[in-house]
Amino acid sequence: MNIQMTDLTGQYAKIQKEIDEAVLRVMRGGRYINGSEVGVFAEALQNYTGAKHVIPCANGTDALQIALMALGLKAGDEVIVPAFTYVSPAEVVGLLGLTPVLVDVDPDSFNVTAANIERGISAQTKAIIVVHLFGQSCDMLPIMELAHKYHLMVIEDNAQSIGARYTIPPTPLYKNWSERRQTGTIAPIGCTSFFPNKNLGCFGDGGAMMTNDDVLADKLKKIANHGQTEKYHHALLGCNSRLDTLQAAVLNVKLKYLNKYIAARQKAAKIYKDGLRGVEGIATPKEHPFSTHVYHQYTLKVGDGKRDALKQYLAEQGIPTAIYYPRPLQEQPAFKFIARTAEPLRVAKELSQSVLSLPMHTELTAEQQQFIIDKIKTFV
Ligand SMILES: Cc1ncc(COP(=O)(O)O)c(C=O)c1O
Repeated sequence: MNIQMTDLTGQYAKIQKEIDEAVLRVMRGGRYINGSEVGVFAEALQNYTGAKHVIPCANGTDALQIALMALGLKAGDEVIVPAFTYVSPAEVVGLLGLTPVLVDVDPDSFNVTAANIERGISAQTKAIIVVHLFGQSCDMLPIMELAHKYHLMVIEDNAQSIGARYTIPPTPLYKNWSERRQTGTIAPIGCTSFFPNKNLGCFGDGGAMMTNDDVLADKLKKIANHGQTEKYHHALLGCNSRLDTLQAAVLNVKLKYLNKYIAARQKAAKIYKDGLRGVEGIATPKEHPFSTHVYHQYTLKVGDGKRDALKQYLAEQGIPTAIYYPRPLQEQPAFKFIARTAEPLRVAKELSQSVLSLPMHTELTAEQQQFIIDKIKTFV
């Protein structure tokens, strides 16, 4: 049985005709930079997410960097980031001469909570980057209320959770929020990545920022384009971060299938959940009532220090797995001298030793999943 962690070519094969035509149109048209497909995609993603503005850019890391640049922070200002996630949020904070403050995460959702964040706040704190990890929203209402209380800006890193919805209880502060908002559209700026294995992935690098704020949208657009107000007039310090026309053409096709892709992931997640229910020492992902889960990853927690042995055993059976993330950020040499940590970050450390992500993609078959479930049970 040929089981893959992700199956990008299998997914492509199903929509090959549409993709090939879209890509060929770009190649024949010659507008390889800023072709019409880019604007079409921005508008389609606005419609999909409900964001007023979508600003495409070169990748998800750039999206976070540009978002931070738009906040006008100064060297030494602190930005709170989760200790247990991909490196990008902390990395861009450090690159801009700001101080990443690493905070712990919730052991069930793997996400930061308002309580984790509050422990990291100091007089220098100016912003928070929350990450909706593995496909599920952080509990955003308490986080937005905390940000309001301490006058902090919030950026959502939605690279892994595009299409997830957060259910917002009505409160006086957010009475204008619709009942369920897509992740990435709750805070003033949301960022995402179209890295190929993402739930909405292109055939290379790609990213986007989202905002409902006209002034921020204008600034983000300018920063992504060398800070230009018009050609050769640079009002702001910016960077060169564009979504290629070819990638936009791919995304225009794939966005139409995103809900179907999410449904396929959710169906696969249910099979894993049912199959692994009650298996000793294996904790399946907890779904929180305030969020839908779009299952970018299906991440188990393996107890009793058996994670690495299970990974090895599954590999011997031809089942690939992955560890997201094997080393929390407080243990990464790159952050040793620039990050501040607010507390021991025990959960981040524990998760790095116990998490194991199973194959999760749109092409998984029930038969493959049963094989994986049976092998896990045999191991246990
Ligand atoms: C949570 C998170 N943030 C940011 C990124 C960065 O995106 P990119 O690889 O497009 O720069 C990724 C993934 O790659 C991610 O998973």
